[in-house]
Amino acid sequence: MNDRLKAAINQQVTEEYTAAYIYRHLANEMDALSLPGMCQWFAAQAEEECEHAYKFAKHLIDRGEHVVPKNIIFEGAEITSPKQAFEAALEHEKKVSEQIRQITRLADEVGDLESRGLLNWFLTEQIEEEAAVGEILDQLALVGDDGSGLLRIDARLAGRSDASAE
Ligand SMILES: [Fe+2]
Repeated sequence: MNDRLKAAINQQVTEEYTAAYIYRHLANEMDALSLPGMCQWFAAQAEEECEHAYKFAKHLIDRGEHVVPKNIIFEGAEITSPKQAFEAALEHEKKVSEQIRQITRLADEVGDLESRGLLNWFLTEQIEEEAAVGEILDQLALVGDDGSGLLRIDARLAGRSDASAE
């Protein structure tokens, strides 16, 4: 496997674990704001990010390579509203989408056909991730400061954990 691609996929394993760490932080902060549905939603997302890390790791291992874990660099700030939490999530997902696009460009550049299936899966997944977070942000904008509206969104998001695992 090309050394640059191998390094990029290894880095992405760490990035996916970083995402899990970020989502776990957002789950804790929603718990602190007494929003159990949003807490559950972010907790499920954190688990999904660990699965993403595993998908990249498994690809390296299946191709005879080793996973080299790196430092996870993230310091969580206090979150004071769901809007702030989901905005942070969207910002992070956009960053991950760009990381995946860059790995895909590199795989194309070095002619690595074997990683194409994996990377296509992630490109599609990122569209879904950004759309899901965007939809929640739209709904949060609709309810504004209305507490009952917020609780209804919270109740809806509580159901998410069943459908998340892939
Ligand atoms: Fe991910």
